Amino acid sequence: MADVDTLIEGPVLTLVINRPDKKNSLTSAMYQTLSDGLQTLQERDDLRVGVLRGSGPDFCAGNDLFDFAAPGDPEAPVTSFLRGLAEAAKPLVAAVNGRAVGVGATMLLHCDVVHLSTDAELRFPFVDLGLVPEAGSTLLLPQLAGRRRAASALLLGRPVPAADALWWGMATDVNDDPDAAASASAAALAAKPPQALAATKRLLWGDRTSLLQQMSVEGSVFAKLLAGDEFAAATERFRSRRS
Ligand code: COA
Repeated sequence: MADVDTLIEGPVLTLVINRPDKKNSLTSAMYQTLSDGLQTLQERDDLRVGVLRGSGPDFCAGNDLFDFAAPGDPEAPVTSFLRGLAEAAKPLVAAVNGRAVGVGATMLLHCDVVHLSTDAELRFPFVDLGLVPEAGSTLLLPQLAGRRRAASALLLGRPVPAADALWWGMATDVNDDPDAAASASAAALAAKPPQALAATKRLLWGDRTSLLQQMSVEGSVFAKLLAGDEFAAATERFRSRRS
């Protein structure tokens, strides 16, 4: 069974994270499908907009804690997925229901339009896991929200409820039906003149060299910590939390 569904409807390519029994946590195979989807979006002229969604009540519980590769490892599908997000030339829209944890939250920082459900909550528990944040979030989150708020989310690991995420500039809006809102945003974007749209996205993001550099630095620290005692202890705590 595919744990990520790639749907193409007219000019819109939608990637649905579809592993609800594991809270849509992401395995290497799933990153590969997500990365392939972003590449298809990039390559096909008839596709104008990418949409990210999760299946079930929660958007994504982050990386599968038992199938972890360091972002930045050139062989790892997570690396090509994150790079695909960071280099996306076409607009990306996200529909977020419920919890978005770890990479489930950091991937949203690369999206141009983010619709959150009223019960959505973003969590960045990297430090508690003995890791560092990835996906350029140590650069993108302070840019969006300010360093003080970024420290609350990234150092203290405080969950960010939807209303705060909106106030902090991490979301476009909060509403009862983020899936419908994402479909409407995608349709609106797809109807716009594509060259002007792509040029405006390029201008909005500017030169992404420093973002890619930050992702690479995060990746090397992450790799070191992934092999360390603090991460091993955190995964053991998660594994044994119900026993
Ligand atoms: N990796 C692997 N499995 C995960 C997972 C993850 N990141 N997140 C959830 N799951 C699995 C659980 O092990 C459980 O599987 P089981 O039914 O076979 O035991 C199932 O998904 C449901 O999770 P559960 O914890 O029972 O759901 P919940 O509603 O009580 O809590 C979360 C949901 C997301 C808050 C909680 O699962 C969690 O904290 N997950 C880890 C998040 C995380 O640290 N991600 C990595 C960030 S870098």
